[in-house]
Amino acid sequence: MSKTRVPLTALLAAAAAITLSACGSSAPSAEKPAGEAELSTITAGSLTVCSDVPYAPFEDFDEGSELGYTGFDIEIMNAVAENLGLKLVVKDQGFDGIQSGIVLNSKQCDVAASAITINDERKANLDFTDPYYDSEQSLLVANDSDIASIGDLDGVKVGVQKATTGESYATENAKGAEIVAFPSDAEMWPALQAGQVDALLQDLPVNLEHTKDGAFQIVEQYDTGEQYGFAVSKGNTAVLDAINGALEEIRADGSYDKIYDSYFAVN
Ligand code: ARG
Repeated sequence: MSKTRVPLTALLAAAAAITLSACGSSAPSAEKPAGEAELSTITAGSLTVCSDVPYAPFEDFDEGSELGYTGFDIEIMNAVAENLGLKLVVKDQGFDGIQSGIVLNSKQCDVAASAITINDERKANLDFTDPYYDSEQSLLVANDSDIASIGDLDGVKVGVQKATTGESYATENAKGAEIVAFPSDAEMWPALQAGQVDALLQDLPVNLEHTKDGAFQIVEQYDTGEQYGFAVSKGNTAVLDAINGALEEIRADGSYDKIYDSYFAVN
C-alpha cells in the first residue's frame, strides 16, 4: 500500500478533471484505495494530542521548541503525526480528565499521550492503542530518609498523583500511610523537596528523573507489569487504527528505537 495520502480536495479535483475531459488521458485515477482517505481529525490537517504536563521524561514543557513541548510521548506522537501526514498540536490537560475519558469523549483532542497505563477500568471509557512502553511503580525518598521500604510508611505522608495507578498501588499496599493526592507531578515533586510529604509513590521512570538532582533515591520498585497505551475516545476506530498502523511503521523503520534510546538507553 502506498504511504502517500492524497488530500480529498485533490481527489475531487481529479474526479472533476476526468468528468470534464472526455478521454482524461493524464488525469490520475479518482478511485482511492480503501484506507487511503485523509484521516478525519478534530482540526483538519492536525493531530491534536492531550497530555498532562509535566511528567518527564514522557512529557515536559520546552518553550524554545516549535511545539512548546518535549518528551518521549511527544516525540513518538510527532513521528506518528508525521507518518499520517498531519501536524502535531499538543494540549496540556489534567490527568484525571484524560484517564476518565472526559477530555477525549468531549472531543478536545484526537488522542491522549500521557504515560497512561492500560487497564480494564479505563477501557470502559476509552480505547487504547497497542502498548508502547512497559513500566512499573516505585518509591522515592530523600537520601537521608529512614524509609527503606513500603513497610516503613505507617504514619508517613506519601505523595501520589490523583487518579493514577500509583495512587491505587499506594492505597492498596502502603499500610497506615497518610496518602496525599496531588493534581500532578508539578505539585508532588516540589512537595517532596519541601518536606511536606516524605515519599512519592509513582511510575519508576518519573521518580528516576527526580533522582537526577542527587538528593533523592528510589528505595523500592514494584513490578506491576504496567503498559502504557495512547488513548482515543470510545469507538474512534479510524484514529485508533491509523495510530496503530503508524506505530507499526515507526517501529519497523527504526524511528521508535531511536527516540526510545534517546530517553532510556542505559550505557
Ligand atoms: N501511568 C500512570 C497511570 O496511568 C500515571 C500516568 C500519569 N501521567 C501523566 N502525564 N501525569 O495512572
